[in-house]
Amino acid sequence: MKLAKRTEKTSHSGLDEIFAASKPGMISFAGGYPDSKLFPRVEIEQAFSHTFQSAPATLLQYNSSKGYLPLREKLATRMRNDGINTTTESVMLTQGAQQGIDLAARLLLNRGDGMVVEAPTYLGALAAFDVYEPNYYEVHMEADGMNIDELQKVLMKHEVKMIYTVPDFQNPTGTVMSLEKRKALVQLANIYDVVILEDGPYRNLRYTGEPLPPIKHFDTEGRVIFLGSFSKILAPSLRLGWLTASPELFDGLVALKGGSDVETSNLMMSSVDGYLAENDLDAHIKEVKATYQHRKDLMVSALKKHLPSEVHFNNPEGGFFLWLTMPQGFDSTRFLQESLIPNSNVSFVPSANLVPSKQLKNAARLNFTNVNDQDIETGVEMLGQQLKLALQSKPIRKTATR
Ligand SMILES: Cc1ncc(COP(=O)(O)O)c(C=O)c1O
Repeated sequence: MKLAKRTEKTSHSGLDEIFAASKPGMISFAGGYPDSKLFPRVEIEQAFSHTFQSAPATLLQYNSSKGYLPLREKLATRMRNDGINTTTESVMLTQGAQQGIDLAARLLLNRGDGMVVEAPTYLGALAAFDVYEPNYYEVHMEADGMNIDELQKVLMKHEVKMIYTVPDFQNPTGTVMSLEKRKALVQLANIYDVVILEDGPYRNLRYTGEPLPPIKHFDTEGRVIFLGSFSKILAPSLRLGWLTASPELFDGLVALKGGSDVETSNLMMSSVDGYLAENDLDAHIKEVKATYQHRKDLMVSALKKHLPSEVHFNNPEGGFFLWLTMPQGFDSTRFLQESLIPNSNVSFVPSANLVPSKQLKNAARLNFTNVNDQDIETGVEMLGQQLKLALQSKPIRKTATR
């Protein structure tokens, strides 16, 4: 069949093949899911039911591409309280943050246009960007966010239209971008005429330390598109996210949304609005955070206990993930396929899948939110055993240097 040329570049993550070897009962540190047991099922069910009972007939009608007004008002207020200077008029509901990523790319990227991504970055964003066939520039992550000197060099040398960043508890590294870098990023975007896509689905999930303002807070020229999502703080199946942007960008995003799926489901938007009216979302987030923080702490102490000293890991202050770094020359994809899954039935996401060039081979993402305490203990112990064995074994160490 003659498919569109753009599908040739569409990210083929290769992860399905890797996990095909997994057996039932796998301990998965690979997923990026919230824990289903923490969803406020009863409250969401009640909100849907109350919305249905009390809503006018128009509940089942089309609404608007921007979305259900009362919910946009609530989100505008939440964002203002979080340091984003926005109004209800500049807020649009999306089908998850994922749709926001797609719409921003569609608005900005012609084939071959330059775009900067963090290395590593969110796999799903690469899948969305690939369709628009950009020219990627990878900027490496450091403990306090992307390397700004490297970014500046890229911007000086190349024409770049868009920078994609997850500044809070980044997927996949768990890193938070420092205050200085947030400001520097906006300054560079102003100088080099670039749009910043700030993706913030983990922003509300801080377990320790002090929150930093969103990058959008420092936006002086309307260059930052901010994306939020209910997926990690309420439930992903709602498929509900939001964005805010300056009028210059916002109007185009609204028009593209109309052409893409007309609008987000009115039933969903109205019911989530009902949930927010009847419940204290922040109290729910507080409960969720307590569980995730406990699991993260448990994973960190298990890693300290079981990992060989050559393997490094961070201790993120929030979010869903932490990042393992093995010695140079280690191939985490091979290790996963040849040792970890077959010998232990434990999994993670290998780093090569998380950069467009696939050239980051010695690291891995571990998820701690959707694994129980026992599995964290057992899985990390087995991971440690397999890593010790693999680090003594030449083939896995040597692949990347060949
Ligand atoms: C950084 C990042 N952005 C966006 C998404 C997509 O989220 P949503 O469910 O809101 O579409 C995810 C999901 O894992 C993510 O990690």
